[in-house]
Amino acid sequence: MITTAAISDIRDQVNAWRIKGETVAFVPTMGNLHQGHITLVNRALKQADHVVVSIFVNPLQFGKNEDLGAYPRTLAADKQALVDAGAALLFTPTPETIYPKGLDKQTFIEVPEIGDELCGASRPGHFRGVATVVNKLFNIVQPDMAFFGNKDFQQLLVIKTMVADLSLPINIIGVETIREPSGLAMSSRNGYLTAEEKINAAALKQALDQMALSIQQGESIIEASQHATASLIEAGFTPDYLEVRNSSNLQPVNAEDKSLVIVAAAYLGKARLIDNLTFDR
Ligand code: PAF
Repeated sequence: MITTAAISDIRDQVNAWRIKGETVAFVPTMGNLHQGHITLVNRALKQADHVVVSIFVNPLQFGKNEDLGAYPRTLAADKQALVDAGAALLFTPTPETIYPKGLDKQTFIEVPEIGDELCGASRPGHFRGVATVVNKLFNIVQPDMAFFGNKDFQQLLVIKTMVADLSLPINIIGVETIREPSGLAMSSRNGYLTAEEKINAAALKQALDQMALSIQQGESIIEASQHATASLIEAGFTPDYLEVRNSSNLQPVNAEDKSLVIVAAAYLGKARLIDNLTFDR
């Protein structure tokens, strides 16, 4: 695996593949890789000749009081995991390479509406930071396709919307959430949980499962949400939001909607965990 922090190296290598007619898949990450990320690489390798991964803890998507400084950085272990998984090229740019003029003078990508609610409302500017860096990384790598985890359900929709709105010739592929045996969705932020919190964290997925079942059995969305919220609080969570939305566009549910998603964000100790569950009613 070639590892580089230089944009020109990425362009040269990807061009060399393109000249030979070979396809390129891209997996953007912030590092501290777990099985969820490796599943993205595995899936990408099934569909493309070469897989490019980026590791960049993007300062633009963190709020002032968020965990940018504390975000886990484990480059040596990440590199080994990517070599083992079969990635061909790893891009590890510095913030100066991505934002040479600094964050304040950077051109931004705003994805309206979908980027403004749920996590966008709780973390103002977050999706502007995500869309901007993903757009920059797409322009640097110029992949045929890019892979993102379904766990970040809203992020995936923001990126799909950006790609459609800006007519980017990139196929965006969502990949299933990988979970711990307890049901807890894998996330780099799980590392903030104490051993006891990690056990209690399984309550998030359990609450989503129970909520979907109750709605399918005829309970109203409002009542099902109240019960799920109570179970989260009992497990030690401080819920941020817990909502049922239309799964194709994340709009509020109307009476005709059949394909739904429960999206949730909740704090447990130092971690802000997110999860989601799609289901039909
Ligand atoms: O999901 C992530 O790890 C990040 O939001 C992403 C897509 C790599 C952009 O920084």
